[in-house]
Amino acid sequence: MTVFHGSARPAVGRRQFLTWLTRGSLMVVSALAVGQIARYFAFEPTADVPTAIPIGPPDRYAPATLTYLGPARAYIGRDSAGLYALDAVCTHLGCLVEQRTDGGFACPCHDSHFGADGQVESGPASKALHHLALELDQDGQAIVDRGRSVAPETRLAI
Ligand code: FES
Repeated sequence: MTVFHGSARPAVGRRQFLTWLTRGSLMVVSALAVGQIARYFAFEPTADVPTAIPIGPPDRYAPATLTYLGPARAYIGRDSAGLYALDAVCTHLGCLVEQRTDGGFACPCHDSHFGADGQVESGPASKALHHLALELDQDGQAIVDRGRSVAPETRLAI
């Protein structure tokens, strides 16, 4: 049996100190990882964005064009069937996607790629970009409804 008296107590050895440091670091890293995982699963891409965003008269958008509108955080496209709104918010963790030269979209954050129709081409995103509802107000102005997704083929007739 070992008995210590006063200053005869042994100091913490170097090996023991490094073991504590390693364990402490692992606990901190684990806690941070758990926090990030919780953030990932709790993420809601459109929760903090106003729902109805006016985007001007529909004929402002020329045929066969795709225009990014920052306030709506959406690409407004016009094809032969009418006007549509494609959400620019990446379905992975909410960065804004950028249009590629071939008409598709790429996310600058983690390199997800989407086709021109918003379908996922490569992850980490696993869900397509949302198509957002468009409607006209009583003055004939188009409104993007960020709170309502629609089928990809939905158009606002012009
Ligand atoms: S936020 Fe777009 S790929 Fe991660």
